[in-house]
Amino acid sequence: MKQYLIFTITFLISSLFILNVFSQNLSLGLPEDIDGYNKWIRLNKKIIRPRAGDPHRGFKRVYVNKTKKELVTGKKLNFPYKDGTIIVKEVREASKQNSKIVLISIMRKLPGNESTGGWDFIEYTRSSQDDSFIPLQFPQEACYSCHQGASNSDSVWTKFNNF
Ligand code: HEC
Repeated sequence: MKQYLIFTITFLISSLFILNVFSQNLSLGLPEDIDGYNKWIRLNKKIIRPRAGDPHRGFKRVYVNKTKKELVTGKKLNFPYKDGTIIVKEVREASKQNSKIVLISIMRKLPGNESTGGWDFIEYTRSSQDDSFIPLQFPQEACYSCHQGASNSDSVWTKFNNF
């Protein structure tokens, strides 16, 4: 009886462990420091819709791990962004909040990225809803070459307008 109980407990604990590892995989291969990003402040009040020449095609919401107080003084936006800032652009297939996410682009403000405006750039994509995200092999300099066009707003195109 006692052995049976020990077996059951061990079985339950290992199942939980396996389930946990599995759900982490399903949590999609995205980095931990952006966990819960969709609860962060959104920079764009309206969803950015696909348009001609769209650099990251889809319906976009852009989030930042800062408070409104850190982002704005009155109606004036505070630049530059501080070290530790993370900006996540979520790109969905359709405008609905629960439609498929096709791309996650991330900019992290970190010391030592002098050649890319102080930002670390990376993007993740996946081939189907059930697959994990995988990082795209795209040189950061190529991201920055376009983002430096937004030099008035610290290389970030989307300006906070979610007052
Ligand atoms: C050809 C220009 C271009 C290139 C190349 C580009 N971006 Fe962007 N990116 C934009 C524009 C424009 C926006 C504003 C939102 C939109 O319309 O997509 C943007 C938005 C973003 C945002 C949200 C913050 C912001 O600036 O608005 C992130 C994060 C981002 N891009 C990451 C990347 C990464 C990572 C790469 C390289 C893998 C990259 N971008 C390459 C033009 C570009």
